[in-house]
Amino acid sequence: LLLGIDLGTSSIKVSVIDAATNNKIISCQFPETEAEIISVQGGWAEQDPNLWWTNTQLAIKKANASGLYDPLDIKAIGIAYQMHGLVVVDKEQRALRNAIIWCDSRAVNIGQNAFSALEGKGFLNSHLNSPGNFTASKLAWVKQHEPQVYEKIDKFMLPGDYISMRLTGEINTNVSSISEGILWDFEQQQISDTLLTFYGIDRELVPKVQPVFSNYGSLRSDVANELGLSSQAVVCYKSGDQPNNALSLNVFEPGEVAATAGTSGVIYAVTDQRVHDPQSRVNTFAHVNYAPGMERLGVLLCINGTGIQNSWISQVTGNGNDYESMNAKASRIPIGSEGVNILPFGNGAERMLNNKTIGAHIQNLDFLRHGTVHLWRASQEGIAFSFRYGLDLLRENRITPQVIKAGHANMFLSPVFQEAFAGVTNTPVELYDNDGSVGAALGAGLGIGIFADRQEAFKGLRKYKTIEPEHTSQYEEVYGKWKQLLEDKL
Ligand code: XUL
Repeated sequence: LLLGIDLGTSSIKVSVIDAATNNKIISCQFPETEAEIISVQGGWAEQDPNLWWTNTQLAIKKANASGLYDPLDIKAIGIAYQMHGLVVVDKEQRALRNAIIWCDSRAVNIGQNAFSALEGKGFLNSHLNSPGNFTASKLAWVKQHEPQVYEKIDKFMLPGDYISMRLTGEINTNVSSISEGILWDFEQQQISDTLLTFYGIDRELVPKVQPVFSNYGSLRSDVANELGLSSQAVVCYKSGDQPNNALSLNVFEPGEVAATAGTSGVIYAVTDQRVHDPQSRVNTFAHVNYAPGMERLGVLLCINGTGIQNSWISQVTGNGNDYESMNAKASRIPIGSEGVNILPFGNGAERMLNNKTIGAHIQNLDFLRHGTVHLWRASQEGIAFSFRYGLDLLRENRITPQVIKAGHANMFLSPVFQEAFAGVTNTPVELYDNDGSVGAALGAGLGIGIFADRQEAFKGLRKYKTIEPEHTSQYEEVYGKWKQLLEDKL
């Protein structure tokens, strides 16, 4: 049996799959507690890593309590996690402060200044991104603003490394993860001395870097006892949630493209070219199967304010979590939401907008004609339109998806969103019955070598449906108006 953990921004999910029976999912559980985002200042977003761990334990215990399998049969564990965050621990492996998570914008200026200073030396060629608002810049923020915390740091790490440390007691990371922090030098094929030196970060603080599919440690015996697992179970795969989503859809090779529309929205294209957008509006990281000499890179477009906006609108309009009726009602409003437009940029600095924080905007409301349902539709269209805006940036960088694969999950559950996404991007979308935690479990199977080959790992992957682009000229027209409103804000 294989266990996958998906450490998301809004919840933590665990799945157990049986590699002996076509990778059948035998348990899929959520913990009751959702992770809260703490924001004490505009643009800041933190979470308590101890709470991640508590929720992970809860989810594993709940899955184990299902009685559907013997927890001692779990051989390998994989971890997918929210990317680009910063966790800092002391020598006793205690978190020294809250995690500064991916959508926290506090380090934008630090990254921008570093980029201005380093780009003259060809930083983009070697790192494929500006230092931006990513993990290394967040660590530089801690160094500047919280020196009393910084001096106690034994290691910094990504969120998935923290969960794997709590499980195994070992501290390590991998090339894909370290590249998300902009700490991988693709030319030198090593940890970036350039950025560490510029930020004055001691190399000792960087965890050991291993291949993505490798042994990160077996379970601590006290943890194994507490969770009812075997202490022989080994963590052997971890990756950011976006490369992991690609893995879960069997997207590994150049030309293959995956997408998600959870809290954030992402299009993730695999390439063997060192694509680097001159303004870093789209980002390039090492994919899970990256290897020197056979580079597999993920070029990623991210929109921070995707599902988080959709659920915010649902909550503030009193609809709670009843997305099904929201989607059904929204589908009765015509394309273009009768003139209402929403710019979905209310979750921090948006990379594709040059790290500007422009906020979310509802435009063109007419109290005599519009109601809640218009907001529900305009929200989903605005999110689809922002994907299109970003897809044009990917196309500028010679990434031209022929088909986009996504899990039938989150916003891709909504027929309104499905149609708007395929229509405005003019790209067929294939939806699969998959999920990040199942992907993490499959990754664990690849890590421990349980599958003869990749084909065997993905034999259980089922296509749910293909959405062909429809009403493309109508979407093109309303997108044009939406884009104008966006450009007026930039
Ligand atoms: C991707 C990104 C987000 C987070 C969400 O670059 O920042 O999609 O990974 O968890």
